[in-house]
Amino acid sequence: MQRVHSEDFERVRQLYDEALDDNAPEQELIYPRAYGPSEYVGQYSDNTASDLRRMGLAMALPPGARVLDGGCGPGAVACLYAEEFGWDIIGVDISSRHIARGRQRVSRSPASDRVTLRQQNLYDVSELERFDGAYGTGAWCHFDATELFAKLGRLIRSGGRVAFMERTRKGLIPEPSYDAATVGWACPAIYSTDEYIEIMGAASFRSVMVEDMSPHFRALQASQIRERLVCREELMRRTSQKQFDTSLDLARAEFSLTEQGLLGYALIVAERM
Ligand SMILES: C[S@@+](CC[C@H](N)C(=O)[O-])C[C@H]1O[C@@H](n2cnc3c(N)ncnc32)[C@H](O)[C@@H]1O
Repeated sequence: MQRVHSEDFERVRQLYDEALDDNAPEQELIYPRAYGPSEYVGQYSDNTASDLRRMGLAMALPPGARVLDGGCGPGAVACLYAEEFGWDIIGVDISSRHIARGRQRVSRSPASDRVTLRQQNLYDVSELERFDGAYGTGAWCHFDATELFAKLGRLIRSGGRVAFMERTRKGLIPEPSYDAATVGWACPAIYSTDEYIEIMGAASFRSVMVEDMSPHFRALQASQIRERLVCREELMRRTSQKQFDTSLDLARAEFSLTEQGLLGYALIVAERM
């Protein structure tokens, strides 16, 4: 395992409430173009709507299931699953901006009565609450996986499922690049799929699906970079030259790791034993 830094949720909150707060116009412009128009539903993660639906189906939970969205962000994934799978979703997020945006979105959803969003750290969810499932998209990278799955093990009923899509480490990433891709994004570590499986096993989760999404991730990264360049003028008008340059540099740095075969992406679904 490569180094696991400490969790730092104050930095996570600052990242989303302050540093990335003016990121929304960039996201609204780039994501629909990079993913394809019907593949962007407001998600703040490297997952298309088709990926999200595939993950939801793999959770195999019935309508009415009580499902935790850990790090729900602006609530688009919660709305999608409530609308399409009929789940009752409790979304938690430590970012007040995301929860405020998410509540607006939920109020417009035909499934608004099935989605509750709370400004809360996932670790503060009471273990008296029981869930049939939990999922994370673009959010579980901010956790130390050992701590996260131990907590989820206490929240999910036996036979319930967890699912997530995240970056994975496929080789030894040179230290400066590793730190930029972890600490730089308030993430403690990048785990390999084997490490995830082992950590989940220790928390009584048996993996039922492990899909290597690396080629798809690579194509998505490439199209995000391409669309940023195509929309350069508009992006600089909507944000700033500095924001444009920073985003492009970060996207290129991560893409370079993917191209070297060091960074990948996976969909993992596991059942609580
Ligand atoms: C990249 S966003 C993804 C949002 C959402 N899942 C989506 O796909 O649109 C990551 C989110 O995780 C949230 N987050 C990170 N750590 C958290 C924690 N310990 N408890 C609750 N939310 C957390 C952040 O505040 C942020 O909104």
